[in-house]
Amino acid sequence: MRAMQQWLAATAAVREQEGLVRRADVERNPQSRSHLLDLASNDYLGLADDPRVQTAATEAIERFGTGARASRVVTGTTTAHDDLELALAGLTGQPACLGFSSGYTANLGLLTALGDQDTLIVSDTHIHASLIDGARLSRSPVAICPHAELDALAHLLRTRDQPRAVVLVESIYSVLGDAADLPRIADLCAEHDALLVVDEAHGIGVRGDGRGAVYAAELAGAEHVVVTATLSKALGAQGGAVLCSPLLREHLVNTARTFIFDTALAPSAAAAAAAACRIIAAEPQRVAALHRAAATIAGAAGVAVAPGAVQSIPVGSPDAALAAARELHEQGVVVGCFRPPSVPDGISRLRLTARATVSLARAEAAAATAARFALATP
Ligand SMILES: Cc1ncc(COP(=O)(O)O)c(C=O)c1O
Repeated sequence: MRAMQQWLAATAAVREQEGLVRRADVERNPQSRSHLLDLASNDYLGLADDPRVQTAATEAIERFGTGARASRVVTGTTTAHDDLELALAGLTGQPACLGFSSGYTANLGLLTALGDQDTLIVSDTHIHASLIDGARLSRSPVAICPHAELDALAHLLRTRDQPRAVVLVESIYSVLGDAADLPRIADLCAEHDALLVVDEAHGIGVRGDGRGAVYAAELAGAEHVVVTATLSKALGAQGGAVLCSPLLREHLVNTARTFIFDTALAPSAAAAAAAACRIIAAEPQRVAALHRAAATIAGAAGVAVAPGAVQSIPVGSPDAALAAARELHEQGVVVGCFRPPSVPDGISRLRLTARATVSLARAEAAAATAARFALATP
């Protein structure tokens, strides 16, 4: 154990020296949440606090218990899972849906079920860790495509040796907040007989009146486009899903290891997310409020308004980003602070997340404070 202890201490020292220490601090007084301005969480539409979503969860606990008790393929599938899959497929305009215990396991399950030596996975450099890990675990050859470079993507697809290919993108990229050009990428995939996997973690509830960017691009239900989702951001719950054809859903039920060998999503989380889907479909004004907050934050921060909720403000150094986040925290504002290695281009950023339920005046003041720390644009 001495070698391991020495290694742990040495890597901790390097993190400390480079200002890259992450903390998972406990929020000891949840009451204080009501006084804080939350510009950091992913509850984009404020649905985690919606009484209808909360009631759906508590009723599911009373009916099914606090946990699912088993894998979906043993006894873990309940009517709450069925209802969630119908509601999410309905919201996003997809033919079928399969729930997972998280967005992370949805991506791992999908890619490991699709990949093999005869399938090239083409991965955009900015995709989420869960897609990267899924690609690594899939046993497929993986080609890395520079971010959003469609000529490079076409070249990789055209010159591949493998009969099948899977292209991985996010509809709204999580760290920089930019959008993928889905119509053109889907066209390229169709032309080169590739399957397009779009991670809509930051798109559902945000683009297309909340129905997602794939829906907005009129690609929902296209045979060559698959969507993955998390239930833990705009849907205010917990869990993940794959939205796809019935044929692929059946394949996943039979082969996705994170579906088969994982306890099912808690029924209360499934019920909460199903309620959230119905609210989003009925109340597009929530999504409009989110975009008003996004425009206010971006305007006050002096950055171009991003297509998703996250407004990303480049800041000089990791220390400057930390100092800005601390100053905002002293003013009762919580923001995201992203530093290397979590930023693909090595530029530290403050992330101010627009949410439908924030006070616009407070969000504007917070963004103006953040702007003082921003890198001057050339
Ligand atoms: C793009 C993207 N995909 C997948 C995930 C994982 O989702 P979950 O938190 O439900 O595991 C996240 C969440 O951080 C994400 O941002």
